[in-house]
Amino acid sequence: MKIVSTEFIKSATSPAHYPEEELPEVAFAGKSNVGKSSLINALTQRKKLARTSSTPGCTQLINFFKVNNQISFVDLPGYGFAKVPETVRKKWGPMIETYLKERETLILVVLILDVRRDPSAEEIAFHQWLCLYNISVLFVLTKSDKLSRNQAVVRHRHIKEFLGLTTDPILFSARTGEGKIAIWKAIQNEIDQDPSLSIVPKV
Ligand code: GTP
Ligand code: MG
Repeated sequence: MKIVSTEFIKSATSPAHYPEEELPEVAFAGKSNVGKSSLINALTQRKKLARTSSTPGCTQLINFFKVNNQISFVDLPGYGFAKVPETVRKKWGPMIETYLKERETLILVVLILDVRRDPSAEEIAFHQWLCLYNISVLFVLTKSDKLSRNQAVVRHRHIKEFLGLTTDPILFSARTGEGKIAIWKAIQNEIDQDPSLSIVPKV
């Protein structure tokens, strides 16, 4: 995928402040600190497009980005276990849910899990909730660089079985770039299923 342009559009907390619905949109979701913002940076080949931090709870607003003027990426705050004040955390659930339920141009949620951990009850519940709302989900197992090849393959198979998935999750690392092309292809595939959507350049 040739990245011609990437732009931060805006941050928002409620629909009144979202940018206009003009491009197909992909949202990146997952637990705090799992690597959502790093994944966006890897896909767009920008080190600091989305702000990352080793402290959970870095992304606190819904951040909208535009890639090649053809697709919109959304960096969501993480859910669960964030070391942020309770009052802030309580607002995130409804904020994320409202976005996911109301965004007409949303074509895919990339649900990011740490390859080293079994999905938590919260992650499973979130997946079920997305299915209930008929939202397409792509599972990405990140931080594969933290495991040996053999361990990564074993964990990949285990998590697929654990979740009862019929399609393969994508093994990914923001450090090595593993899985980047596969994720772009999956996004392209989602766009291709709807002929009314504009096309992302070939990967
Ligand atoms: P919140 O915004 O707080 O919910 O976090 P996030 O999910 O956006 O995570 P972020 O991208 O900020 O990354 C969290 C930490 O994990 C940072 O220290 C990253 O450098 C690290 N990290 C992210 N992806 C990878 C990866 O693939 N491999 C390794 N080794 N570290 C990663
Ligand atoms: Mg983040």
